[in-house]
Amino acid sequence: MENLDALKSELSGMIKSAADGDALEQIRVSALGKKGQITALMKGLGQMDPKERKAAGQQLNVLKQEIADQIDARKDELENAGLDTRLAKEKIDVTLPVRPEQMGTIHPISQTTDELISIFGEMGFVVAEGPSIEEDWYNFTALNIPVDHPARQEHDTFYINAEKEGQRMVLRTHTSPVQIRTMQSQKPPIRIIVPGRTYRCDHDATHSPMFHQIEGLVIDEATHMGHLKGCLIEMCRAFFGMDELPVRFRPSYFPFTEPSAEVDIGCAFGDGTLKIGEGDDWLEILGSGMVNPNVLENCGIDSTKYQGFAFGMGIERMAMLKYGIPDLRTFYDSDMRWLKHYGFQPLDVPSLVGRAGL
Ligand code: DAH
Repeated sequence: MENLDALKSELSGMIKSAADGDALEQIRVSALGKKGQITALMKGLGQMDPKERKAAGQQLNVLKQEIADQIDARKDELENAGLDTRLAKEKIDVTLPVRPEQMGTIHPISQTTDELISIFGEMGFVVAEGPSIEEDWYNFTALNIPVDHPARQEHDTFYINAEKEGQRMVLRTHTSPVQIRTMQSQKPPIRIIVPGRTYRCDHDATHSPMFHQIEGLVIDEATHMGHLKGCLIEMCRAFFGMDELPVRFRPSYFPFTEPSAEVDIGCAFGDGTLKIGEGDDWLEILGSGMVNPNVLENCGIDSTKYQGFAFGMGIERMAMLKYGIPDLRTFYDSDMRWLKHYGFQPLDVPSLVGRAGL
């Protein structure tokens, strides 16, 4: 058995230089296979005398194990090297621009919400949020809508079986309950806008069971109707991008405001198209008013010292008017063609700050 060292170094050399898995497999067969060199030597043990056989058998077993281990190690090495070259070859350059045909778009609801936030943000409003599942008291009672008030029926409320401290829970029918939550948790002066989802049991071309509103609330010591008008006229003109857009305040009724006004913008309805800012027609886009003193008192705010105004509008409606989207239901269809057509470039972030030409 004196030639085992030579065999070992010959096989080790071959294993080390095996270029791929196939070459390695051939070496394994030629050494350890049925007709392999080591297998043949093991078969020869039978012809040896018992003393020699024991020592030679041990040596052969060690050699067999070493060669098998070396083959496994080389196999791992080859596989890892393959992975390394694939990783190097297939690496992604994240700095490359997105291919236009693969780029996603910003949904018109998100875009319109961001535009309104940016307009109100410039005026000093901050964003506030509240829960979708709301207590009856926040959604109605605290907003001066008592239990038997007809406005409760008008809201087509989704009631939830759950109760919290004896209160029936509802899916909020408007963003107005966040006014209450804010007045309870913050001291005036308050200047918030509340974008969010709202829910009513209604479904047709102009109503969806889930829709979005944006609510506004200002509370301070000397706030008056002139502030309400100035703020909302400015918002309408900035949103539609028309400095001269006619804006009209029409007396209305909301339980949570007194006096209340609906806000219309000037437009022309004609031959099936709507032109904003032209003609003699009016289109309602907002509800607003001076916060009813009962609402302030319900939140623990002294109504002899503070007053304020509030407003609320539908985001889908604002988006439909600005971007000429005819059917409300299409907002929620997740139709890729619609999203490509009406969606916005992700980097086109709304801002009122102009860009200087270079
Ligand atoms: N909450 C009203 C609605 O859903 C909208 C609204 C009107 C909100 C007048 C207000 C407001 O804050 O002052 O129809």
